[in-house]
Amino acid sequence: MTGPEKMRALLAERQGGHSLPQAFYVDPAVHEFDLQAIFHRQWIQAGLESEIPNPGDYLTMTIGASPIVILRNQHGGIAGFFNTCRHRGAQICAGQGHARRLVCPYHQWTYDLGGKLLKAGRMQDDFDVSAYQLRPVRIETVAGLIFVCLSDDPPEFGSFRAELEPMLEPHGLRNAKVAYTATLVERADWKLVMENARECYHCRTAHPQLMRSFSDFTAPDVSGRTQAWLADFDARCKSRGLKSGSVVGPWYELGRYPLTEGVVSYTMDGKPAVAKTLGQVGDGNVGAMWWAVQPSGFNHVVGDYGFFFQALPTGPRETTVTGKWIVHQDAVEGVDYDLGRLTEVWNATNDQDRALAENNQRGVNSIAYVPGPYSPIAEQLVLRFTDWYCAAVETFVARRK
Ligand code: FES
Ligand SMILES: [Fe+2]
Repeated sequence: MTGPEKMRALLAERQGGHSLPQAFYVDPAVHEFDLQAIFHRQWIQAGLESEIPNPGDYLTMTIGASPIVILRNQHGGIAGFFNTCRHRGAQICAGQGHARRLVCPYHQWTYDLGGKLLKAGRMQDDFDVSAYQLRPVRIETVAGLIFVCLSDDPPEFGSFRAELEPMLEPHGLRNAKVAYTATLVERADWKLVMENARECYHCRTAHPQLMRSFSDFTAPDVSGRTQAWLADFDARCKSRGLKSGSVVGPWYELGRYPLTEGVVSYTMDGKPAVAKTLGQVGDGNVGAMWWAVQPSGFNHVVGDYGFFFQALPTGPRETTVTGKWIVHQDAVEGVDYDLGRLTEVWNATNDQDRALAENNQRGVNSIAYVPGPYSPIAEQLVLRFTDWYCAAVETFVARRK
């Protein structure tokens, strides 16, 4: 069976409101399909503009099988390229750094910051360097964030920017830095990792650290979540000039919600982890601003720090999760924050979620697995995720008829 036919057959098997048929989570062919149909087509959050402040600064990431380099060009703008040399395809840049020119480590073909090939030694005299530019990728920025898309036909970005910008801009991500990055390789399909990340049905038992501060905004049945409480929160945000409310877009969701009463940050004691607040947020008692981007990320920003979570498939039944902790760029470790205290809650939560996703994968691998029903109360966002995924699959296979 060819890829599209197989995916059509799998979609036909799917029962709405239920977890997906087994092959979606276990079949290596579906993993390959997901790279093409999802990860090569969607917007992926790549980092902060402030991570590459000067011309020549670059960062790298790998999406699916494709290494990408994102850099600050000679004009001060941000550009992105497939990080694959036009000679024989070697990866050019690695990690994060600074370079006036991009020099391939293999035979030293040399590109400028616009991706133009400047030099290819020992080629014939009439060799045309202009025919070998680095292949560009799409880049968008919003409120200090960088997004990348590998497709020439990316999903519409403007409405996302219009919604996110006014809500996120006051949080000062243009003047922020990454205080810590944690990478977890999870033995689970990326969709199981993301389904887990979209619900808090499991939180009360699985996340004792997170639940000290987190008030599950994804479910309407949380005790104490009264209209008066929410109205009080909205008024508090308004008085600090912050936009609240929530938005569900075609491939994104965002909003602002209160933390547990008396809590201002995702820490064990609910007090800030960082002495310098992040952005223009008054005393920082502003709950959490949240945005989730299909297919692979969610992000929280509280008064003093941000936490970005991204899950990228790195193999069949394997997902690499990257967590980034974001603080004010002038905050000094050991003076303004203690790294252990800053990272304690989300590190613990990430590790607990890794164990849950891997455990979920083990059970789903069984010959006994059949799709089960999502809770309409506690798993609405999971349902939105799987609906979005199936719609994206359907659109992709329809184009290949
Ligand atoms: S592969 Fe890059 S210079 Fe040869
Ligand atoms: Fe969790």
